[in-house]
Amino acid sequence: MNLNEYLREAGADEGLISVIESVFEGIKKISHRLRTTDIGKVGSHNSFGEEQIAMDVYADQVLSEILRENENVSVYTSEESAGELNFDHGEYAVCSDPLDGSSLVDVNLAVGTIVGIYKAQNFANLKGKDQHASLMSTYGPQTTVFLTIKKGVLEFLLNEKGEFVLRRRDFQIGPGKMFAPGNLRAAASREDYFKLTNYWIENQYTLRYSGGMVPDVGQILIKGKGIFSYPGYDEMPEGKLRLLFECAPLALLVQEAGGAASDGKMPILEKEIKDLHQTTPVYLGSKEEVDRCEQYLS
Ligand code: F6P
Repeated sequence: MNLNEYLREAGADEGLISVIESVFEGIKKISHRLRTTDIGKVGSHNSFGEEQIAMDVYADQVLSEILRENENVSVYTSEESAGELNFDHGEYAVCSDPLDGSSLVDVNLAVGTIVGIYKAQNFANLKGKDQHASLMSTYGPQTTVFLTIKKGVLEFLLNEKGEFVLRRRDFQIGPGKMFAPGNLRAAASREDYFKLTNYWIENQYTLRYSGGMVPDVGQILIKGKGIFSYPGYDEMPEGKLRLLFECAPLALLVQEAGGAASDGKMPILEKEIKDLHQTTPVYLGSKEEVDRCEQYLS
């Protein structure tokens, strides 16, 4: 089954189908550029005489250009931009982290694109639970996309013909000992986070941490267990991960797979977006592990 066949089977409206297909088109372009460009030469010119630009800027340009052309999109914003790009048409608001983990590109580790889709004319006062769909692509040995239109989570694979084909649709996160402890430096000053990470170590959890939120969360979805954490601390009380661009879309994916996502006190999807670049502490994974984080970090 390909992407279009799934979206029709699931009863998505024409506008949403078109927006999701545009985003997947952008992901295909970003994937191709990542695999074929010598990013060591950023700032110079490639063999066609085009100036090489940083991958995250390129990924943002691809998405903004494709979405501007789509008459169903009303507004686009991203982690790369200062404000919103308002178009004179459409009903879907799209936000993205065009290249999450961009500092991992030069060392050839997996990176990804994160996207949230709302029905709105701007992002003010929305909550993550208002999303109509969210997705994240992973550019690793293969290019894959996890997608939810609030009917569970599906994984698509970009195949050799350049088509996105359904790979898996039975994602379910439950108990299990795997941890991805982000911002571990916070454990030096926060006794509660130190105790929490010690709990995972003493109980012999398997460490699976890549430095990229996308592959770390993808692993939780695929293995069906685990926890990803990124707390705040003195220097950054609200952490550094963005609510709109990173945490809310991934929270929706995890929740749609039977997991949970919290800022330590309340569900990520209940948090109101007051500022486009607002950050939040985040704990996401199985319900059991997210509960444990809330208990330890109360
Ligand atoms: O900016 C986002 C990000 O790259 C995430 O993908 C990742 O989990 C996190 O930052 C890593 O943060 P740090 O560099 O503080 O370890």
